Amino acid sequence: MAPPVFGDQSFPVLRASPASAQLAPLGYPATPVWAYSTDKAGTVPGPEIRLTAGERVRYRFVNDLPQPTAVHWHGIRIENAMDGAAPLTQAVVPPGESFDYDFVAPDPGTYWYHSHNRSWEQVARGLAGPLIVEDREPWLGEDGAATREMVLVLDDWLLNADAALVEGRWDDLHAASHGGRMGNSVTVNGSAYPDLDIRPGERVRLRIINVATDRIMPIALPGMSSRLIALDGHPVAPREIETLVLGPAQRADVVIDGQLDGEKRASLLLDPGNREWVEIAAFVHSGEPMTASGPDVRPLPAWNSLKAPELLDPQRETLVMDGGAMRGMSEAVFKGRTMDFRELASNGMVWAFNGVAHKMDSPMFRTDLGRTVHLEMSNHSMFPHAIHLHGHHFEVLTRSGTLNRRGDVRDTVVIGADETIEIAFVADNPGVWMLHCHMLSHQKSGMMGWFEVA
Ligand code: C2O
Ligand code: CU
Repeated sequence: MAPPVFGDQSFPVLRASPASAQLAPLGYPATPVWAYSTDKAGTVPGPEIRLTAGERVRYRFVNDLPQPTAVHWHGIRIENAMDGAAPLTQAVVPPGESFDYDFVAPDPGTYWYHSHNRSWEQVARGLAGPLIVEDREPWLGEDGAATREMVLVLDDWLLNADAALVEGRWDDLHAASHGGRMGNSVTVNGSAYPDLDIRPGERVRLRIINVATDRIMPIALPGMSSRLIALDGHPVAPREIETLVLGPAQRADVVIDGQLDGEKRASLLLDPGNREWVEIAAFVHSGEPMTASGPDVRPLPAWNSLKAPELLDPQRETLVMDGGAMRGMSEAVFKGRTMDFRELASNGMVWAFNGVAHKMDSPMFRTDLGRTVHLEMSNHSMFPHAIHLHGHHFEVLTRSGTLNRRGDVRDTVVIGADETIEIAFVADNPGVWMLHCHMLSHQKSGMMGWFEVA
């Protein structure tokens, strides 16, 4: 089925194919999934891709799935043609065919890659993996830094009693008009409730990635004196955190200290939505104690390849989010025509950006290369959304009118019901870039558009 692949070692294969994975606890059957693989068998999450900032990622991507697909490199400020945002930046890769991805990853940080065709189904079937861009300057092992890092990929699966994925609900409008297609089994690195080894006193950097299609994950690490050091790959001044909310596609780097006395076990907790914390993984002491690293955490090396937004005279754009259950839209434009609520729903549309559902025929806005865009995003619906911009990182300026003094830079931001967030970014990456809700059921049912930088 796959085309012949020649022995060019500089162009390794990344394959997507059906596989199976032990997602449910032992004793349950393995789950049929779709998985990425390089030289080994397919796994969920997909194989870790790791490189240093400024290095090149090259893969001959081979599609061995029964559906067309494409690979998106989430958060990478990439050349447009390599963005994988089918059908906007490339045609889909049909079953049995391949596509060569070749790009430079400019910025250090914690990123991921995932399917960008029928993503609400393909990501839910397992097509997601970590993409780690290491710091240009050494940080691990330096004074006050961590001695080791651990990548934690959090996912959410909708499994039946046989641990198989619940099929046939990919177009469920009820879920799409609420919080999205929620799973019933959360995994960490593809396992249910794994034990993660930590040496007593050891300082570890966690790179936490939420690859769930729709679940917003509030998490907590009680007793581990957690300090946040990066969001969506961007260093932040280390700050202590008790809990952390990761929307779909968001990442956080957190430094923890393995406690020396008392507890031998610490829990990674998740709030599945009812304000009751449940354990999804545990840190368990193993090995010799290490000397505690002292209270202060060394900040990550700053990187400044991002231009600061020019806020005196930016191009102002607005994004109003409407729709969903309880406050459904009376009408919106879809495929160039105004439709009422019923007709929209019969077309699978329950959400709109600026009164237009799934706006793919023309850009939401155009901007000149190098111009600062100030985007005011207002959520008029009853549900939170995780808005993601391709090809750019943005600064979060205000939340509900309050200045965000932390100056967080992100590629995906969660906007609560009735919340307004202002962001700004320098449109310094030419091309056509998707802008969508990363709750993939919402993306599919209307929260999708794009902008053009030329
Ligand atoms: Cu990670 Cu268009 O998405
Ligand atoms: Cu949404």
